[in-house]
Amino acid sequence: MLIVRTTAELDQVEPARAGKRRGRRAVVMTMGALHEGHLALVRAAREAADQVVVTVFVNPLQFDDVADLERYPRDLDADAALLEPLGVDVLYAPSVADVYPGGRPIVTVSAGAINDVFEGEHRRGHFDGVLTVVLKLMHLTRPDVAYFGQKDAQQVIAIRTMCRDLNVPVGVAVVPTVRDGDGLALSSRNAHLSAGERADALVLSRALAEAQQVLDEGGPLSLALTVARAVVAQVPSVVPDYIGAMDPVSAAPVGGDYRGDVVIAVAARVGGTRLIDNVVTRVGPREGVA
Ligand code: PAJ
Repeated sequence: MLIVRTTAELDQVEPARAGKRRGRRAVVMTMGALHEGHLALVRAAREAADQVVVTVFVNPLQFDDVADLERYPRDLDADAALLEPLGVDVLYAPSVADVYPGGRPIVTVSAGAINDVFEGEHRRGHFDGVLTVVLKLMHLTRPDVAYFGQKDAQQVIAIRTMCRDLNVPVGVAVVPTVRDGDGLALSSRNAHLSAGERADALVLSRALAEAQQVLDEGGPLSLALTVARAVVAQVPSVVPDYIGAMDPVSAAPVGGDYRGDVVIAVAARVGGTRLIDNVVTRVGPREGVA
């Protein structure tokens, strides 16, 4: 595995830039502190592509909270040790100065109306920061396909929309959320949880499972959301930012008697740590089922 620390070096190992033919290239973009969720993306990419590039870059542009940025876990040696056995070809881990040589970029990508709902509403500027770095990393690594996790459902919607609206010639592949055995969605931020907070945080996946069960039994979306909110309310140390449902294509909020595919999403603070989770499901009968 080649470890590349600068854009200039990446240019040298980038055969596509030299106009040479190459196989199918996949990129997996991360902010490091890698766990099994990230590794699931890498394994999926490895199976599908000839060449796998993993990027590790803690992108300051997408943090609305300086303290969150500063305490974000960073350990490139540990990340490299996890990636090496998976057959990754290139680990690209540039510095902030390398990605943003002039400081904050003047021209950025806007997530538009996606900024007004759910994560966008609670983390001002977050999706503009994500889309700007994702587009930059796509240009730098030139993949045929990029892999993202369903864990960040609205991020997937924002990236798909960017690629569609701006004609970015990169496929977007999505991998299901990887969870611990007890249901907690894996996240780099779980490292900040105390044992007690971790136990409390389990209420998030439990609330989503109960909402899903309401829908599976034919109940309306409004009831599923009421149940999810009631489950989370049982654990006062878990303070929700939102518990809601979104259209899986546009991220627009849906509710009431909506029928069709839906993402039920939750964000909450557990102590000083903010966690998100979601489930992709459907309201009403599946196609072809009476
Ligand atoms: P990061 O939080 O490091 O996540 C990198 C990728 O791993 C994302 O696509 C995310 O959805 C996926 N991922 C994280 N936890 C997962 C889990 N439990 N199961 C499945 N996939 C999981 O998301 C980002 O970084 C950044 O916003 C980035 C896209 C790299 C842009 O800076």
